[in-house]
Amino acid sequence: MKCQRPQYFHLPPHTHTTRTMHKTILGIEGTAWNLSAGIVTETEVLAEATATYQPATGGIHPREAAQHHATHIASVIRKAIKSAGDAQIDGIAFSQGPGMGPCLRTVATAARALALSLNVPLIGVNHCVAHLEIGRWQCRIDDPVMLYVSGANSQVLAYRGGRYRIFGETLDIGIGNALDKFARHAGFSHPGGPKIESEALAATEYISLPYSVKGMDFSFSGLMTAAKEALKKHSLANVCFSLQETAFAMLVEVTERAVAHTEKNDVLLAGGVGANTRLREMLEIMCKDRGAKFHVPEKRFMGDNGTMIAYTGLLMLASGESLSIEESMVIPDYRPDQVDVTWK
Ligand code: ATP
Ligand code: FE2
Repeated sequence: MKCQRPQYFHLPPHTHTTRTMHKTILGIEGTAWNLSAGIVTETEVLAEATATYQPATGGIHPREAAQHHATHIASVIRKAIKSAGDAQIDGIAFSQGPGMGPCLRTVATAARALALSLNVPLIGVNHCVAHLEIGRWQCRIDDPVMLYVSGANSQVLAYRGGRYRIFGETLDIGIGNALDKFARHAGFSHPGGPKIESEALAATEYISLPYSVKGMDFSFSGLMTAAKEALKKHSLANVCFSLQETAFAMLVEVTERAVAHTEKNDVLLAGGVGANTRLREMLEIMCKDRGAKFHVPEKRFMGDNGTMIAYTGLLMLASGESLSIEESMVIPDYRPDQVDVTWK
């Protein structure tokens, strides 16, 4: 188990939020391997505490990850509350989905128990929407096209008519999963994305790999298999480089088309894969060519974190949204475009 020190930092208020929300919300994230509790007010992140599940071998095992979360959830929440100076909590937000069923259920059980014992509202947050909201808050942008890229998810979204609409998405696996699977095959431990990124720096040539964009959607499974095959003939560095170049070009192409279609002037990058420097560089170039502005939050807000759940919960509660215990079932396949964005 790796526990990060709780961090204190101040953020500007969300520019487009006009309601006053003098609330303190605790948010719990635990959809996959990261268990995290964050505490926020409208203008400040008061505390965050995290415990990360590290698989001994292979990828994330859902039941083992859930067991990890069950073991550490009490101490993570306690640590966050203590770091926030024993702040009074006005609401409990939790990741309701999407994610791994056993992990989601563990977090939801803790959230329900906490909300009941503190007698405060319970708020079910869509994990993908939370990645986007923390980015909008941090970068102070109102209405961007968003590229959300993580382990399980790869989507291009933009706000229209009360929801975050999905303009394009993966037809099979998420980009992070593709990178992690390839990396595992190449002998790297989980997570593979950062290792591929550093290995790619030593590349000497680009190897042609299948580029798969269909309409506004993309797929990564065939690319990942072809990259594994390419390892038989080419150096690891060249394959890592070519895998990144091909996959990221697909993502940037679809993002660019969404910008053209929506005529929005900002692009926001969200999700754990957004930590990648080469992906950022390619998006930056595309935005410059189009006269759009590229935004990316600090790295600690890009991967899964409790703060993003707390902050989205705060926005939702301020617009009158909370759940009864009966309504608080987890939704493992919860899509961001199922959420009515009542707070915007
Ligand atoms: P979600 O539930 O939103 O899919 P997640 O559980 O995958 O989230 P995140 O922290 O958002 O969690 O993303 C993790 C992914 O990010 C992993 O696949 C990891 O390999 C990838 N990743 C992290 N850093 C980098 C990097 N520098 N380059 C490429 N990929 C990266
Ligand atoms: Fe995530």
